[in-house]
Amino acid sequence: LERTYIMVKPDGVERGLVGEIIKRFENKGFQLVGLKFLSPTRTILEKHYADLSSKPFFPGLMTYMTSGPVVAMVWSGKGVVKAGRVLLGETNPLASLPGTIRGDFCIDVGRNLCHGSDSVENAEKEIALWFTEGVVSHNRVVERLIYE
Ligand code: GTP
Ligand code: MG
Repeated sequence: LERTYIMVKPDGVERGLVGEIIKRFENKGFQLVGLKFLSPTRTILEKHYADLSSKPFFPGLMTYMTSGPVVAMVWSGKGVVKAGRVLLGETNPLASLPGTIRGDFCIDVGRNLCHGSDSVENAEKEIALWFTEGVVSHNRVVERLIYE
């Protein structure tokens, strides 16, 4: 089954929105298979955001992302990469519709609460980077109530 890497950023943790963000993925029917609380190092963040290293906002992004602990998660389910991005909303929270996490809870692009993988390929790379120990394997009883 498809998997994605979702991370509650330091502002989301500090603002007490961890449960809210988890709840939206749970409500949808996706399955949580990896979860941990950690203070990310610059090293892991530089790998995670390698494609943005030449951007003018990169130093600010590093300061933001190292400002406190994050919640790192792996969610599994049909179409979870794209659907996860829909649940999160647009990169710019002001362009995000109400009903999305960013649309409902934040304003600035540099304080946008959460991260979600942008492709299946990048999701697998990010899961390998953040969950070197691997994730759980569990067959849920509810699966036949969620999938046809
Ligand atoms: P992520 O899920 O965090 O990867 O966001 P994204 O895929 O919607 O956007 P992208 O990967 O392009 O950028 C990663 C993060 O860098 C964003 O979530 C923002 O926090 C930050 N960022 C992106 N563009 C800008 C920008 O123009 N200005 C600032 N200040 N931050 C930005
Ligand atoms: Mg991105």
